[in-house]
Amino acid sequence: MPLQTTQNIWHNGDLIPWEKAQIHVMSHVVHYGSSIFEGIRCYAQEGGNGIFRLREHMARFLDSAKIYRMPLPFTLDQLCAAVVDVVEANGVAPCYIRPVAFRGYGEIGVNPLKSPVEVYVANFPWGKYVPGNTGADVCVSSWSRLAPNTMPSLAKAGANYMNSQLIRMEAEINGYAEGIALDVNGYLSEGSGENLFLVRNGTLYTTPLANSVLNGITRASVLTIAKDFGIPVVEQALPRELLYIADEAFFTGTAAEVTHLRSVDRILVGDGTMGPITTALHDEFFGLVNGTKPDRYNWLTPVTVKTRETVSA
Ligand SMILES: Cc1ncc(COP(=O)(O)O)c(C=O)c1O
Repeated sequence: MPLQTTQNIWHNGDLIPWEKAQIHVMSHVVHYGSSIFEGIRCYAQEGGNGIFRLREHMARFLDSAKIYRMPLPFTLDQLCAAVVDVVEANGVAPCYIRPVAFRGYGEIGVNPLKSPVEVYVANFPWGKYVPGNTGADVCVSSWSRLAPNTMPSLAKAGANYMNSQLIRMEAEINGYAEGIALDVNGYLSEGSGENLFLVRNGTLYTTPLANSVLNGITRASVLTIAKDFGIPVVEQALPRELLYIADEAFFTGTAAEVTHLRSVDRILVGDGTMGPITTALHDEFFGLVNGTKPDRYNWLTPVTVKTRETVSA
């Protein structure tokens, strides 16, 4: 989907014009992948707009920076305020928000510590991410997810997405909407940009953080809702074949939201339709973010924008 531009981008504390947000080709990040980022959605509710779990996203941003010894000269409160500022200044909502920090122009060589840290926040309209309104047809990837002790999965680092790109390209070239990677031990991990859930015999299963997954904020939200609904929840290492015999399966993610899986490796999941537990979680999630259900968890940060963007699928 082509990027739709907005007017301003927040850079190190100031709003600058979109077209001025440029970096030098010799910046460290271009050569060595030294970036961390976030992906956040701002949803429209009746009479306003709200950013979904802003604080949790920016806390994860700080965690990613800490793992990579990248000092960010901003507090959590300042980073949250930066996101609100750029969304309000651009007047574009609903939208997708992209905070990014990286090692900029300084020294050449692998060691990043002498290259300056740059922080930007952009926002833009963005619609549906995983294709398939009637459920996604996905495959198990021939690529494994990052091995522990190689690239830390809990950091949302740009370089991790080279692995995600391999998974996603392979899936699309072979006619699938998305790929699910196994971890290096052959257990289920996650999609190229989504966490994975299964339902079998009324129990909700998801892969734990130790299986090389990102600590997804949508994943955590769905787990909270499921526990409130009294759905039994199990986080444990899951064998690949559980996908084929699951009653239901779905992805979660900021981009993917809650997307039900119709088939895996051309094997229908259940009868291929969105099952009752997925439907309950999906509807509750969308009820909360779209404001048709009260924000009982305080997950929305209100923003004031003048225009309402039409987000295309
Ligand atoms: C690899 C990966 N896993 C899982 C997720 C889902 O995380 P979240 O729900 O915080 O967007 C994402 C998206 O950010 C991702 O890129």
